[in-house]
Amino acid sequence: AQRRAVDQVLAPLRLSRDDLEKVQALMREEMERGLCKETNATASVRMLPTYVSHTPDGTEQGDFLALDLGGTNFRVLVVRVTEEGISMASEIYVIPAAIMQGTGEELFDHIMDCIIDFQMKQKLMAQTLPLGFTFSFPCQQLGLDKALLLTWTKGFSASGCVGEDIVQLLRDAAKRKRHLGMQVVALVNDTVGTMMACGYDDPRCEIGLIVGTGTNACYMEEMRNVGTVEGDEGRMCINMEWGAFGDNGCLDHLFTHFDKVVDESTINPGKQRFEKLISGMYLGEIVRQILMVMVQKELLFQGKPCPKLQTKDIFKTKFLSTIELNGLALGQIRAILNELELDATFEDSSLMREVCQTVSMRAAQLCAAGLAAVVEKMRENRGLDQLSVTVGVDGTLYKLHPCFSRNLQKTLKDLAPKCDVSFLLSEDGSGKGAALVAAVAYRAANAME
Ligand code: BG6
Ligand code: GLC
Repeated sequence: AQRRAVDQVLAPLRLSRDDLEKVQALMREEMERGLCKETNATASVRMLPTYVSHTPDGTEQGDFLALDLGGTNFRVLVVRVTEEGISMASEIYVIPAAIMQGTGEELFDHIMDCIIDFQMKQKLMAQTLPLGFTFSFPCQQLGLDKALLLTWTKGFSASGCVGEDIVQLLRDAAKRKRHLGMQVVALVNDTVGTMMACGYDDPRCEIGLIVGTGTNACYMEEMRNVGTVEGDEGRMCINMEWGAFGDNGCLDHLFTHFDKVVDESTINPGKQRFEKLISGMYLGEIVRQILMVMVQKELLFQGKPCPKLQTKDIFKTKFLSTIELNGLALGQIRAILNELELDATFEDSSLMREVCQTVSMRAAQLCAAGLAAVVEKMRENRGLDQLSVTVGVDGTLYKLHPCFSRNLQKTLKDLAPKCDVSFLLSEDGSGKGAALVAAVAYRAANAME
């Protein structure tokens, strides 16, 4: 009876092959709608042009500054690109929550303070360095160095930024600080930075994927299919912003009671619905909601009340990784739970593990369904029977979770059998890719002068 009750709670989270094929088809539909000028405004997947039209070709050169804002860490970097290769130095700076959710001016002043501190420490104050900015939020780009913020996502909500050109906001802050040591030449999404960084080592890398705090993907699309930009020649990298997939209701059949409660407790309810099923900022919360229901149904902790479980974000996504680690003694799970002041028996621990596995499996499968739509589109675009392509990947969930990448790859093979997809982990983050984009932009700008 206990087993049946557990299955009943978890059933809505278990997806069939049919469910996944449906998600793949819906993603494909939303991609087409996002690419088309007439339907773009109402598509949940925005398919944003990036003005990046080539992956790296090895001729990029120079010294660059890079910023990396929007993941777990805010980083400032200096990247030296030479014929022999790339070397870089970086520093992590903290962005206090009060600044993430304060005013735009405070946010960009803070960013400038970090850049200045970094340039002083690296003895880079004497020159004006071109800067590539990885900015991991949806922007409508009008060029490489003009990017209007469409909306904040993840934990950010600084006022006065939506609708503004983020490059200009950074330039304005530089002016306020009278800082002449940098010149912003390009802004890229983290997916694009990741694709470019991996593309430097593997020319077949034409897709970027992030599964971290948030989730998103970019890929090289044929210009003739990009209805939102003039011109038909060549390709352009498209920032899909797939985190918002489903915000128009097309995934409503998938959302469980737990997903709805998690969504409602965020600062952007109704938004980023696909992201909230997959990424690191939300999985722990989904697990916590399930555990609370299981306690209520007396399936867990013998129904004893667990006040700690009521606390938002107490169940960290990294617990999922630890709990699912293969071979981890259940005793260790109990130790984690004791930390949360949860008194768990052996049965409780193994049930917790099953809950975590169900939630992370669904996330990996959904991510695979999205990716399957992308690779299949690329294969059709190119009129190939079989496509060989590499995905550059970054993000703490992908990197740290013991089964996520395996489950993702297995499901992808299943859903897109005509595509031979390799995954390349981004080693040193997307700042490197932003510098490579800056290198090309800087060269083009100087060639014109
Ligand atoms: C980093 C990239 O390595 O991964 C960032 O440099 C990106 O640009 C991040 O946003 C994503 O992972 P997370 O887990 O930090 O959100
Ligand atoms: C969010 C952002 C997107 C970013 C992703 C991964 O979905 O909107 O721009 O790429 O997180 O960091």
